[in-house]
Amino acid sequence: MSEILLNDKRVDYSSVLLPIENNEQIRHLLSIDQISVDGFYRYLREAYAGTHLQQDGIDLLRRKRLMPLMRQPSTRTSGSFAQAMIKLGGASGHYGGSEASSEAKEETRYDSEEALGVQVDIYAVRTEEEMGPAFAAKTFDDDLARGDRDYFVPVINAGDGTNEHPTQTIGDFYTIHRHFGQLEGLKVAVIGDYEKYRAHHSTLKAIAKMGMKAYVLETKFNKIPEDIKLSLGDNLINVKNLDDALVEVDVLDMGRFPKEYKGSDKNAQKRYEKMAKYYREKLMVDKKRLKIMPKDSIAMHPRPKGPEYALDCYDDSRMKDVRQMYDMVPARMGIIILHMGKSMVEALEDQGISCNNPLK
Ligand code: CP
Repeated sequence: MSEILLNDKRVDYSSVLLPIENNEQIRHLLSIDQISVDGFYRYLREAYAGTHLQQDGIDLLRRKRLMPLMRQPSTRTSGSFAQAMIKLGGASGHYGGSEASSEAKEETRYDSEEALGVQVDIYAVRTEEEMGPAFAAKTFDDDLARGDRDYFVPVINAGDGTNEHPTQTIGDFYTIHRHFGQLEGLKVAVIGDYEKYRAHHSTLKAIAKMGMKAYVLETKFNKIPEDIKLSLGDNLINVKNLDDALVEVDVLDMGRFPKEYKGSDKNAQKRYEKMAKYYREKLMVDKKRLKIMPKDSIAMHPRPKGPEYALDCYDDSRMKDVRQMYDMVPARMGIIILHMGKSMVEALEDQGISCNNPLK
């Protein structure tokens, strides 16, 4: 049973993690595990429509409001969720942090989120701990069940601790699909802190789901979580050095080794130092290394960037890190619209407008 500590009580939160089956059944988006293969393509289809509408927007969510509540620093996720909501005709709120809210008067964060949840129509939340967005989802659902609110508010996981960052992966896979016109069969080198980097957890799960292959480089101090490994099965290829992967893959996805999860005990700190040293000495990708990748391959990074790529990489046409950020707005337009029970694809079709959507 999935449990969470809510207002000092252990609460079963498995109900908020139910699969997202179809448009009619609006749900929270907390994990890649909730998404079916068809569902994943549905997000991408909407993202293509979002690209068509990225400049001029569309008024599908007029008078609806999104709260992008970031309990950890964010530039891309908070901003692109806000921009996506505005492009859909809605509005985005702003959370100024604990100091600027009644949390400064010792209001608990659960009470605080419950208060914010009644002011909005959709909620995107980032938390420092795992399953933080599930706190909000469970609270809102319980309020609805008790009759203390009248309509469902979808909660979107904008990054929860070291667990997952599912919307980053949906956006990144949109960038990959735009480039290759497919996902299935692609080979992706995923290089990062397998234990602590949430974006790679979501990406590895999605690779398994979408029939792609993950090339990884595990070490004694950097192991992929067992459940993710199991889901990848034969699609997981462990290489001994990075160049063995680079000569074969379509995509190189380098990730951070997040300092914020360095830990306070000695062992955790030692692990982090080892990891940082290993990255600096063995894994840093420079332009020369990029060149050993196949001709039409791409190199990605969810950013913020660290020393994973040398500075000389950033003017190489393989680098798609800026494209990733740009594509994140239409991708998040797609996520918001589907979780609000609507569709940009259908709205465009109703207007007889065909957008350049290879997934049709
Ligand atoms: N990639 C990403 O999540 O960036 P931010 O931390 O700036 O939101």
